[in-house]
Amino acid sequence: MSQEMSHTGPLLKLDNVGISFGGLRAVDQLDFAVEKGHIVGLIGPNGAGKTTVFNMITGVYKPTDGAILWKDRDIGALPPYKVAQCGILRTFQTIRLFSGMTVLENVLAGQHMQTRQAWWASLLSTPGQRREERDLRERCMAILDRLNLADVAHEPATSLPYGVQRRVELARTLAASPELLILDEPAAGLNDQESAELNTQIREIRDSGVTILLVEHDMNVVMNVTDRIVVINFGRKIAEGEPLSVRNDPQVIEAYLGSDEDEDVA
Ligand SMILES: Nc1ncnc2c1ncn2[C@@H]1O[C@H](COP(=O)(O)OP(=O)(O)OP(=O)(O)O)[C@@H](O)[C@H]1O
Ligand SMILES: [Mg+2]
Repeated sequence: MSQEMSHTGPLLKLDNVGISFGGLRAVDQLDFAVEKGHIVGLIGPNGAGKTTVFNMITGVYKPTDGAILWKDRDIGALPPYKVAQCGILRTFQTIRLFSGMTVLENVLAGQHMQTRQAWWASLLSTPGQRREERDLRERCMAILDRLNLADVAHEPATSLPYGVQRRVELARTLAASPELLILDEPAAGLNDQESAELNTQIREIRDSGVTILLVEHDMNVVMNVTDRIVVINFGRKIAEGEPLSVRNDPQVIEAYLGSDEDEDVA
């Protein structure tokens, strides 16, 4: 609470962040901020360093330089579970669902860390625990409903079509009540209709009070949903601004035309 009141800057701020893997400078002198309530896109050609940026924000990699500020506090050295406890939660570039579990069970697993009950309470079936369990299931069902997944709640998650599995992953991440939701290529592998639905769902999630940072190659998603875009190439920021200005930036066009991407920004 006191932390909430004391922070004056943006929700998330990367300040001169860099990381090297051996001799490779994967991210260099990167500055950008994510304001509360915004949808920010991080784009760039394959290998530009986008996932690495996400891995640094979420504590998977420690930046070798600079600071990652969450509500003015440097979280650069925190392990992933502590970053998650801050309210920073992510989906992955490739699907990571639990096989052998239903859709609802996968989503319940995502919510697990939100549980207020002490660990020993789950060994006994106390009335508090049963009530909590029921509330959790209701919350998860509401999330499934919002993402059009209620019909498949009791299906084995990994037996579903790819596009549906991606939505289950999103549901599972939402179940942990993110304050900042980090999405790594959420539209990858989706057909046009699914990708259009995703646009709507991302905006709805933002409107429900969640700030969003996303990496996406699908320009239809990037241009339509983001408030601000940061473009990186070879680990460095080459442009930043509103979607329209970024789209017309000569350096951005060149970075994309010079890559093997078939989506170009022009
Ligand atoms: N753990 C690691 N060890 C060594 N090199 C790494 C590691 N992680 C990433 N890299 C390198 O850092 C660079 C950036 O990779 P990264 O995965 O962040 O790119 P990306 O922008 O997410 O690309 P894509 O669009 O293909 O997902 C690449 O050259 C990659 O090989
Ligand atoms: Mg990536």
